[in-house]
Amino acid sequence: MKNQLTIALSKGRILDETLPLLKAAGIEPAEDLKKSRKLIIPTHHPHINLLIVRTTDVPTYVEYGAADAGVSGKDVLLEHGTQSLYEPLDLKIAQCRLMTAGPVGGKPQSRRRRVATKFVNIAKRFYATQGYQAEIIKLYGSMELAPLVGLADEIVDVVDTGNTLRANGLEPRELIAHVSARLVINKAAMKIKHKLLQNLIQDLESAVNKRE
Ligand code: ADP
Ligand code: PRP
Ligand code: MG
Repeated sequence: MKNQLTIALSKGRILDETLPLLKAAGIEPAEDLKKSRKLIIPTHHPHINLLIVRTTDVPTYVEYGAADAGVSGKDVLLEHGTQSLYEPLDLKIAQCRLMTAGPVGGKPQSRRRRVATKFVNIAKRFYATQGYQAEIIKLYGSMELAPLVGLADEIVDVVDTGNTLRANGLEPRELIAHVSARLVINKAAMKIKHKLLQNLIQDLESAVNKRE
């Protein structure tokens, strides 16, 4: 429907920081997202519903138009690929860095290394541009464990405080990208629902600027 908007969000750390921005843009969930088991959440805004999806699924929902807009980490967008999405706004929340990391003091021995990560595409691109030969091992979480048990020489993961690396005897090595959460928009929806989406972008942009 032309006068209805759906926005894909994921629970977890991005949500906590997204809700105040949405509130400032006049979008408040009609029920407690933390408690509700519903996946389509109405808001007090007459034209806007929220969809609750997995972090890594946000770009997929928006790309196929199952959601008009979404909030996604840049790490997830880099991994997914973004040619088919608009990315009009940096929300400047959930900020962290995509890095390689390995055991403290341990130097990568050769140009050949085994790398554990959930960011397979990002890692392949990064090591290729650096001229390293990398065997990438796909994991779904707890990447920091891999070097400790001999599964990999190195990992690619997001780092914020560095506490997780330190707690596991690892240290950051090379910076791959700075990461923050972005507003993404379906390209067809941007045409068909231009006014609603333009308002959303503007309202969120002023909320982001007010926080600075
Ligand atoms: P997941 O369950 O997929 O790990 P999270 O809710 O932990 O999802 O993370 C969502 C997004 O928040 C990530 O895609 C990333 O952009 C960002 N992020 C992840 N870890 C951190 C962190 N430690 N500090 C800041 N931002 C983070
Ligand atoms: C994320 C990420 C790192 C950690 C980095 O994990 O995968 O492990 O945060 O943050 P730090 O540098 O401040 O320690 P998260 O807490 O999201 O746990 P997860 O495994 O459930 O994604
Ligand atoms: Mg996480």
